[in-house]
Amino acid sequence: MFETIEKDIIKNKQFLTDVHKGLSDEPKHLSSKYFYDKKGDELFQQIMHMEEYYLTNAELDIFQTHKCEIAQLFAPNKEPFNLIEFGAGDGMKTKVLLKELLDHEIPFDYVPIDISQNALDQLNQSLTKEMPALSFKGIQGDYFEVLNLLKEGNNKRNVVLFLGSNIGNFTNEEALSFTSEISDKLNTGDLLLIGVDLKKEPRKILLAYNDPAGITASFNYNLLHRINRELGANFDVAQFEHHATYDPVTGECKSALLSKIEQDVTIEKNTFHFAKWEPIHTEISRKYALKQLHQLAKKSGFIIKKDLFDTHRYFVDSIWEIKK
Ligand SMILES: C[S@@+](CC[C@H](N)C(=O)[O-])C[C@H]1O[C@@H](n2cnc3c(N)ncnc32)[C@H](O)[C@@H]1O
Repeated sequence: MFETIEKDIIKNKQFLTDVHKGLSDEPKHLSSKYFYDKKGDELFQQIMHMEEYYLTNAELDIFQTHKCEIAQLFAPNKEPFNLIEFGAGDGMKTKVLLKELLDHEIPFDYVPIDISQNALDQLNQSLTKEMPALSFKGIQGDYFEVLNLLKEGNNKRNVVLFLGSNIGNFTNEEALSFTSEISDKLNTGDLLLIGVDLKKEPRKILLAYNDPAGITASFNYNLLHRINRELGANFDVAQFEHHATYDPVTGECKSALLSKIEQDVTIEKNTFHFAKWEPIHTEISRKYALKQLHQLAKKSGFIIKKDLFDTHRYFVDSIWEIKK
């Protein structure tokens, strides 16, 4: 119990330090990893069910259509392996694969990793109920902090999942550093399956991040509510406006919160000044060209084994292999 309290205090300190740094920088920014508290997890689940958020259905379509082929690629001779997932969330799409692997009686251990303890607790509950035969152990942590776990595993093959275009939340440098670190820690024959949203009609992309019902806006506002709740800040959230843009040249869909008035916000003993219409950048959701994704694979030391697309070619699940 004391360990949990200590961990929570450290996490809160880190949150405070990051918020302080982000709001002191020019332009102001906050990390999208802080979207996911209990309320943020709920709102993200609502986003996944929105018609405008085509990403979920596209990746689900890929898994449902190609689950047998994916299971074959993961364990061609039904050999035991570790299935490690970064940013597992509610595991809705992953469950299609888990079920397929169990149906084929392939022995594997599932290790979902997520920064949100609430997401992991809910996943734990649902997996225990829906798949009692599944061997799994969730781990709470930030992607970059838990990468070392890949090295520590037993000598079974590692297969890493990184779904939902989570890679889109990284800058180009962070994406290369993340996939390179994964590749460094994996062994010959290990795999990375990465789900990536592709460049497409800008209007379609923008609607997914700025829906008419305002669910994506509420998701963005929750970050300020969370800072109020956990760090005792006094953001007047109604005085901020959700704003999303998409640049087809860079592929960056950016979300920001704009201060509608000139105002001061206090967090602990620090005051942050906002000019009228000053933005806080909160998220990048980068869209990739297939060629760019393949370059990322090669630069980080992988070879591309297979690209799987949904019917509309909105999304790709690309399977990469280590050859050392
Ligand atoms: C966009 S959701 C996608 C969830 C799931 N992969 C899917 O495709 O439906 C992102 C998930 O990654 C987690 N996450 C975000 N940033 C993270 C980080 N830096 N480290 C670990 N998990 C993170 C969030 O808590 C959330 O569950």
